[in-house]
Amino acid sequence: MTSPTITPQLDLDSEQLARAYERESATRQFESGKRLVGDLALVPGERVLDVGCGTGRLAEHIADIVGPSGSVLGIDPLVERIAIARGRSRAHLAFEVGDARDLGGLSDASFDAVLLNAVFHWLPDKAGPLASFIRVLRPGGRLGLTTWPPGQRTMLQQARLEVLAEPPFDRHVRPADGVLFRVDEDRMRALLGQAGFTDIRIELRPAEQTFADAEAAIRYSEASAFGNFLGHLPVELRARAREEIRRQLQAKVGDQPVVRREHRMVVFARKPEGA
Ligand SMILES: C[S@@+](CC[C@H](N)C(=O)[O-])C[C@H]1O[C@@H](n2cnc3c(N)ncnc32)[C@H](O)[C@@H]1O
Repeated sequence: MTSPTITPQLDLDSEQLARAYERESATRQFESGKRLVGDLALVPGERVLDVGCGTGRLAEHIADIVGPSGSVLGIDPLVERIAIARGRSRAHLAFEVGDARDLGGLSDASFDAVLLNAVFHWLPDKAGPLASFIRVLRPGGRLGLTTWPPGQRTMLQQARLEVLAEPPFDRHVRPADGVLFRVDEDRMRALLGQAGFTDIRIELRPAEQTFADAEAAIRYSEASAFGNFLGHLPVELRARAREEIRRQLQAKVGDQPVVRREHRMVVFARKPEGA
């Protein structure tokens, strides 16, 4: 029997989670985004689309680089995050509620670069969004993204899986990989090629994040998953599952911090000149 596909829900976010994300993303997530932006070699005057911009920290950084002769548009489906991002708006930096699955409101060839920092694995369908990204890029425009490849499981993800496999939580169909849709290097290359991208470069970079304890690791995941951490469970079971995961994870690390070690996939591609 095949399990139904469980996709991320975009209506589980809250002001509290959005604020937590704004705080928690200021370190590792932002650093990874800045490195992606650096590698894209943006220059003053360029027009950039930041898809899944969250609370807008990275888009603001990009706006500083492209300057007032350029422009940055950040889009995200989460209203609470866009509300925080709008506090950063300037003449050449705008934020809209929007979804990678529907860029119909954006004109063809209207951006020099499109980027997604830690967003691609949240998209169940890849082909549709990639077709939109290449459409809104000018010929020669660049795509840059960071994402998590499959085949790695953090200690927190392991604890979560173990707890959710036990009653009463096991009665609720759960996705094996959270609600993430990760693709490996070969699949990524194929998807980009099918969408029409060229000059594809894919790197795997070691990434490490340390949390003081299990509670801090869970708080980060809750904020970065915008309510999807235990979103498949009925509301009345979530607090109990959370506590059991916390206990299990803390038992794994004892009095040591929780260290999350993974490889991040960093991807660059270009729309062909003349396309
Ligand atoms: C881990 S956060 C990354 C936020 C931001 N890029 C950053 O670097 O801090 C993942 C983001 O992906 C966004 N996201 C999820 N599904 C999306 C979709 N279908 N279209 C656009 N963004 C989406 C979420 O709303 C969330 O803000």
